[in-house]
Amino acid sequence: MSENSERSSWSSSFGFILACVGSAVGLGNIWKFPYITYENGGGAFVIIYLLAIALVGYPIMIAEIAIGKKAKANAYLAMGKLSKDNIFWKLVGGVTIITSFLILTYYSVVAGWTVEYCFQSLLGNLSMLNNETVAPRFTEFLGNGLKQVGYHTLFMFITTLIVIKEIKGIEKVLKVIMPLFVGLVILIAGYSLYEFGGGKTFDFLFSFDMEKITPHSVLEAVGHAFFTLSVSAGIMVIYGSHLTKATDIFKTGLWITLLDTMIAIIACFMMYPIIFGTDIKIGESVSILFTTLIPQFNSVPGGTVILSLFYLLVALAALSSTISILEVTVSFVSEKFNIARKKATLLSSGVIWGIGVLCALGLGANETLTKVDLFTKFDYLVSNWTMPVAGFLTSIFVGWYAADKYLKEDFEGSHHKMLYPIWKFSLRFIAPILVGGVIIYRLKIFS
Ligand code: ALA
Repeated sequence: MSENSERSSWSSSFGFILACVGSAVGLGNIWKFPYITYENGGGAFVIIYLLAIALVGYPIMIAEIAIGKKAKANAYLAMGKLSKDNIFWKLVGGVTIITSFLILTYYSVVAGWTVEYCFQSLLGNLSMLNNETVAPRFTEFLGNGLKQVGYHTLFMFITTLIVIKEIKGIEKVLKVIMPLFVGLVILIAGYSLYEFGGGKTFDFLFSFDMEKITPHSVLEAVGHAFFTLSVSAGIMVIYGSHLTKATDIFKTGLWITLLDTMIAIIACFMMYPIIFGTDIKIGESVSILFTTLIPQFNSVPGGTVILSLFYLLVALAALSSTISILEVTVSFVSEKFNIARKKATLLSSGVIWGIGVLCALGLGANETLTKVDLFTKFDYLVSNWTMPVAGFLTSIFVGWYAADKYLKEDFEGSHHKMLYPIWKFSLRFIAPILVGGVIIYRLKIFS
C-alpha cells in the first residue's frame, strides 16, 4: 500500500485503545514491574513510577500518537513529513523502528517459553518440580536448541498470521485476546490472594519506605515507563496513523495509560502473595516466571490448572505485544519500499525470525552464539540507549517544533485548550529533563 491511499482505520476508538493496551501490556507488566517495585521497597516506588508515567510516559505517548495521526505513516516517513524531510529527524524515527525490530528478535524467544511451560504444565510435567529442581530444569530447557528455535518459530508464525491480516485483522484478534487476558489476570490474582493471603502484599504496596528510594529508583521508574507504555518503538506512531480525525487523543491516551498501569498493579497482587508466602528470594531476571513461581503453585490445590492458565495469560500478553512490534517493521518496509503488504510481512518476519534464531541458540545450545549472547546485548541496547535517546529527541521535536506547527489543530476542543499548553510544557521541559537524567545516568556520569 502506498503511503496515504486507502489507509485503513480502526473500526472505533475502542478498537484502537484495545490494540494499544495490548501492545503496552506485556512481559514488562507481569514480570518487570512487580520485580522492580519489590526491589525498590514497594509503595514509595509505586508513587514515583506513577509520576514517571504521568510526566514522561503519557506526554510522549500522546506525542507519538499525534505524529502518526497527522502524518499517516510509519515513524520514519512521519518524522520526515513533519520536518520538511530533515534527515536527522527521519533517523530518529528510523531508530524507533530498529528498536522494535531488535526487541522482537528476542521477545519472541521469551514468548515461546510461555508456550512450552503452558504445554508442560497441562501435561502435568511441572507438578513434581521443587525449589531444588526447578532452576536446573529451566537451564536445561534454555540449552535445548531444537526447543528454543521451535517455540520461537511457532510464536513468530502466529504473530505473522495475525499481522498479515492488516489493521482490521489485528483488531479482530485483539478483541478476543484482550478480554480473555483481563479475565485471566483477575482470576489468578483473586486465586493468589485467596490461597496465599493478601495481608503482606497490601502492607508492602501501601507502606512508604522512603529509605529504599535512591536516584537509581527514579531513573528505573522513568526507564520502565517507556518500556511498559510501548513508547519510543514506533508502535504508537503506526497505530496512531490508522486513527480517524474524530478520535480524541488525550482521552484515548489516558485510557491506555490507566489500563496499562492497572494491569501492572494487579500483576503485583498476582505475584506478591506467592512470593511472600515463601522464603525464596525473588529472581532477578525474566526467569522468575519460569522458576520461582512453580513450586509455590504446586503446593496449592488446583495449582497445575492455575499454573497452565498463568502461562496462557503471559503468552496472550506477549502475543498482543509482538503483534504491534512486528507491525512497525512491516509498515515501514511496505510504505518505504512500496512493497505489497503480504510480501512486506513475510520479508520482515523472515528476517526477524532469522536473527531471533541466533538469539535462541545463544542461551546455551551453541557455544559461540552463547558467548556472543545477542539476546542480552539487544535487550541492553534498546532499554538503555535507543528507547531513552529516541524518547528524549521525540519530546524535543514535538515540544519545540512540531506541536505548534502541525499538531495543535488536533487539540482545538474546549477542554483541550487547557490541556494543550500543559502537554507542550511537559514535552519541552519535564520529559527531556527526566529522560536526559536517565541517559546521563546510563553514561555513568553520576555513578
Ligand atoms: N510494552 C510491552 C511490555 O511491557 C513491550 O512488555
